[in-house]
Amino acid sequence: MADWSKIEALPSSKLTELFAGDPDRLATLSLDVSGIHFDWSKTHLTRDAIAAFAELAKAQDLAGKREALFAGAVVNVTEGRAVEHTAERGEGKPESVAIAAASHARMRALIDAIEAEALGPVRHILHVGIGGSALGPHLLVDALGREDKRYDVAIVSNVDGVALEDVFERFDPAATLLVIASKTFTTTETMMNAESVLQWMTEHNVEDPYGRVIALTAAPQKAMDWGVDETRILPFAESVGGRYSLWSTIGFPAAIGLGWDKFEELLEGAAEMDRHFRLAALHENAPALAAFADLYYTQVRGAETRAPFAYDERLRLLPSYLQQLEMESNGKAVTADGQPVGRPTAAITWGGVGTDAQHAVFQLLHQGTHLVPVEFIAVIEAGDTLAEDHHKALLLNAFAQGAALMAGKQVEDPARSYSGDRPSSTLLLDDLDARTLGALIAFYEHRVFVNGVLLGINSFDQFGVELGKEMAKEAAKGGGSFDPSTDDLIKRAFG
Ligand code: F6P
Repeated sequence: MADWSKIEALPSSKLTELFAGDPDRLATLSLDVSGIHFDWSKTHLTRDAIAAFAELAKAQDLAGKREALFAGAVVNVTEGRAVEHTAERGEGKPESVAIAAASHARMRALIDAIEAEALGPVRHILHVGIGGSALGPHLLVDALGREDKRYDVAIVSNVDGVALEDVFERFDPAATLLVIASKTFTTTETMMNAESVLQWMTEHNVEDPYGRVIALTAAPQKAMDWGVDETRILPFAESVGGRYSLWSTIGFPAAIGLGWDKFEELLEGAAEMDRHFRLAALHENAPALAAFADLYYTQVRGAETRAPFAYDERLRLLPSYLQQLEMESNGKAVTADGQPVGRPTAAITWGGVGTDAQHAVFQLLHQGTHLVPVEFIAVIEAGDTLAEDHHKALLLNAFAQGAALMAGKQVEDPARSYSGDRPSSTLLLDDLDARTLGALIAFYEHRVFVNGVLLGINSFDQFGVELGKEMAKEAAKGGGSFDPSTDDLIKRAFG
């Protein structure tokens, strides 16, 4: 059992006192890595806290587990698999790096063929996938695809037909490529959506609709059995987890939509963060420091949630992306060897976009009774070109919110008082380009890993999603009865 006593015994000084007591605080708790400035000085981390966490990390063999991750050892112990998303960006076991490079080369060749109209005219890319097979590519295309739109890319995940019909209204079936993204090639929602797209193409007399299907999968045989031609299947390794898969061929919509150079820059940015994570000492290691702050709040201060706010419209999908990454990875109750964890695991990740969120949920952050560590993500270089200084206003709002959360304000009227001492961290990107976004996402992945290792859990399985899936399948077959409430709901909906 890990010993948390030193961490639990850390003195709980106020943020303003911590600043007053240590002139070097900002320097100690800020870092610049891969075009991102990280500032944890408005969290309650201190030198002593970092030292205590570093001790725990040693006891939990973080360094050994980190090496095992990059070496392609079986770190996903419950599924008996290596975890090799870093190999997709060139950092990992040489054999796995070579396999990833070959699958990227295959993807590039197919993109070249599509651009040369080998599959006929293509203007629209309709990507169907869900969870990790949608959230990552969607984030990339949304964040980086504002300028130079090479194709109209739509990413549909929901089984609700409304999502597909909205796309059908805007896309020309004769100029659409159907991209089926599914690691397992069995996910009900994705397969149902894929069938409906094919049907739509057929109804609109598209000649050879199967000839316009591309599959991104770790189960190529299943894709072939479904009817996708082998030449249009872009496989990726089983050891790349779904929520870590945007670097693999699952990133196809980004690679074709943004252009190959940008996709490569994305991988390079992530690789730079990989090397930082692997080599930097813990007291100046961005993923480790972020995880220490996460754990301080969940384990010592009882925080149940954390809230990232993207102060940049281009990153509006980041909070949803992080929800899957963090909650599917670390929302567990048992350790890697099956024992009860006996302490809280992942915080509930929620968040939103600034400045909108200020006028909606920040009331609770400033005056509510919950402790919510806030994370501001902002970009120095503006995404817009408007003459009015929108971007300056946006950034100043982010910075002012962090200052207000920390400082608070005491007045006579309790309703108008702010307790202050509310923690926040800031990630300030120089620019939102592919390289920096790659580094940012890799930073979050490694932060999740450090959280998992210090808690002793396996961040790479997701058995918790299975039961609901099984029961939905059973209900679809019309089989069995559930409980009085569920049976009644089914009867009301379907008679
Ligand atoms: O529902 C959980 C999950 O397995 C995710 O982990 C995964 O990203 C998603 O479903 C989609 O799975 P697939 O890529 O196999 O369709």
